[in-house]
Amino acid sequence: MTTTPGADPVESRVVRVFRGEPLVEILAFVEAQLAAGATRLAFCVLDPDRGRGHHAGELVREDGIDHVHRPWRVWVDLAERLGLRLATPRVVEPPLVELRFERLSRAADATPLATADDLTEKYGAASAFARVSKLEEPSFVVDFSEAVARAKLPPTPRVLDLGVNTGDELALLRRLLPGATFVGIDHSASAIAIARARFPDASLHVADFADLVSLELGSFDLVVSIGTLQSTGLDDRELVRQVVQRHLAPDGAVIFGFPNCRYVDGEIVYGTRMKNFRQPELGLLVKDVAFYRKYLQQHERQVFVTGKYYVLVTGVRIGSAT
Ligand SMILES: C[S@@+](CC[C@H](N)C(=O)[O-])C[C@H]1O[C@@H](n2cnc3c(N)ncnc32)[C@H](O)[C@@H]1O
Repeated sequence: MTTTPGADPVESRVVRVFRGEPLVEILAFVEAQLAAGATRLAFCVLDPDRGRGHHAGELVREDGIDHVHRPWRVWVDLAERLGLRLATPRVVEPPLVELRFERLSRAADATPLATADDLTEKYGAASAFARVSKLEEPSFVVDFSEAVARAKLPPTPRVLDLGVNTGDELALLRRLLPGATFVGIDHSASAIAIARARFPDASLHVADFADLVSLELGSFDLVVSIGTLQSTGLDDRELVRQVVQRHLAPDGAVIFGFPNCRYVDGEIVYGTRMKNFRQPELGLLVKDVAFYRKYLQQHERQVFVTGKYYVLVTGVRIGSAT
């Protein structure tokens, strides 16, 4: 059966309807269209609201016809995995909705967020990275907030942020830890200038991590480093060794965040991508997470590994976690 689709952004006039077909058939349909060069595509399925409480794949009978129910998440996941954006669905002929997809920009996919020639300004104010905010990602906000709560910090903790950039983590930490004082380090002068304007009370240093010890910053109740330890040219193992041995209070906690995503054409896409792999390849991420998990355990920390788009390794003093 076909139905009349809505207008833009998907312009095709004949729209395929899927009722009882398995997901693998829908995937094959979408992949065939993409292989043929389509940049937009659409199809109709049962309105997921009709099958609330059913699992994906269970049948829902509407007007004497069986439809396979799939929650909205299935369509969001399908879009994400195939490099597509899901437009706002439209109700066409109840109980059907029209799902409209458009391909994410290939140019954006090929362009890293960090582009400056100068290594220190790779993630500076002029980089595409500056347009991205983790504070609008629910999973990051929820997981990071839980990690901070797990650390059971004193009422007025000292917090160090390695790779503070423009201060997004500080914005969240300030809400979570209203009594905290903050110190941040980053070698991007343009990013630190923005962070200083946002957080005039924080002590923010334009410096390379290699100079950490000479900054004589003292010891901290919490050290965070998000999306930074895998940076180009950084001896992250040595940096963490210095932090744990010289700058972590005896009961101090750490939260290290490892990106497990890419940002493409305005969308966050799950999984780190290796050259020549079409789908996410998590080998390097798993290796680094396993290393820091073991390292922190060896330094008397109970370690939690949480997160989705950012994998968070949280180390708290044994016996202090909630
Ligand atoms: C990917 S960004 C992450 C920034 C921020 N934590 C976030 O998640 O939004 C990594 C940051 O680490 C900084 N950085 C990388 N290597 C550094 C080094 N050797 N010394 C100081 N800062 C460094 C970069 O300038 C950048 O701001």
